[in-house]
Amino acid sequence: MKALILVGGFGTRLRPLTLSVPKPLVDFANKPMILHQIEALKEVGVTEVVLAINYQPEVMLNFLKDFESKLGITITCSQETEPLGTAGPLALARDKLADGSGEPFFVLNSDVISEYPFAELIQFHKSHGGEATIMVTKVDEPSKYGVVVTEKETGKVERFVEKPKVFVGNKINAGIYLLNPSVLDRIELKPTSIEKEVFPRIAADNALFAMVLPGFWMDIGQPRDYITGLRLYLDSLRKKAPARLASGTHVLGNVLVHETATIGEGCLIGPDVAVGPGCVVEAGVRLSRCTVMRGARVKKHACISGSIVGWHSTVGKWARVENMTILGEDVHVCDEVYSNGGVVLPHKEIKSSILKPEIVM
Ligand code: GDD
Ligand code: MG
Repeated sequence: MKALILVGGFGTRLRPLTLSVPKPLVDFANKPMILHQIEALKEVGVTEVVLAINYQPEVMLNFLKDFESKLGITITCSQETEPLGTAGPLALARDKLADGSGEPFFVLNSDVISEYPFAELIQFHKSHGGEATIMVTKVDEPSKYGVVVTEKETGKVERFVEKPKVFVGNKINAGIYLLNPSVLDRIELKPTSIEKEVFPRIAADNALFAMVLPGFWMDIGQPRDYITGLRLYLDSLRKKAPARLASGTHVLGNVLVHETATIGEGCLIGPDVAVGPGCVVEAGVRLSRCTVMRGARVKKHACISGSIVGWHSTVGKWARVENMTILGEDVHVCDEVYSNGGVVLPHKEIKSSILKPEIVM
């Protein structure tokens, strides 16, 4: 089977992290978001993943080259010369996706995190005989997503409304699809939205079905949702693979510490924390609801909560970093500095406190 991952867009809502790497390469729970997806696709027998991309393909391909051989999966790029939206890229990659086997293929938004129940998706898709299946999930605030109204017994989609202004329902498109090759005949090679143009038409032909996604789901394309997504991911890990979580008297709740990271004496870490590869957390540090990315250093007695510390950054002694502070790559927060929601661009040195949420350029 094949899969296409939509990796276009500039990831502006996840700046400053996306100033250093494309959004799919931003680490989530200690590895790039896209690897979570590729590994899960591999599990269900996908042999080729096509990345639909509209900028910096070299960065992505260079990075993923190692994983191609490690995972035994082919990763190719399909590059747009202009952004083709969420459907146009399927037309562009038509020859790769429709290989004559007649098999359905996966399409994923690159910024959604879940347990990726792909095996269940394949099973459901085969059972209904329609052209396309989308996974749906319930959320409290449906207006920022694509809302799906289904027939209760069969899961047949009656309506698909992208970002509705008025309440239509609370089941939303999770950005995970399984499509028959015939769907490609419905898409022209031009900027097209799968949500606004393609799905409503398949639904009108009674051939679009929705399956409620088991387990958690989150679009982690925004900092607040990223932090919530980490909590949900770690909760799920606690149920499925508890041995991968850290334990000890210094650990509170669900915490993921990379095997190459070091944690000093007298720290209190958790809940909902990810400490990435090569990180150094010195003595007496307090971390909660945060991500500390690869190569970062947190000095003695610093306190970080509800924040993201980008790759190779440093948080100084007795510093306090909180309230959705996002430090880009290689940022240095000096000793005793306080950051309340600072969004700091890469390679900056922060010498004085940031008292209210603001962007530091
Ligand atoms: N190749 C390519 N080209 N990819 C693109 C383009 C493009 O022009 N535009 C967007 N994408 C990719 C993004 O990188 C992302 O992976 C996916 O398409 C969806 O775009 P977002 O910008 O993240 O959309 P959204 O989050 O507002 O809404 C989408 O996702 C929701 C679930 O998270 C929609 O699919 C909604 O219906 C859905 O509920
Ligand atoms: Mg999104």
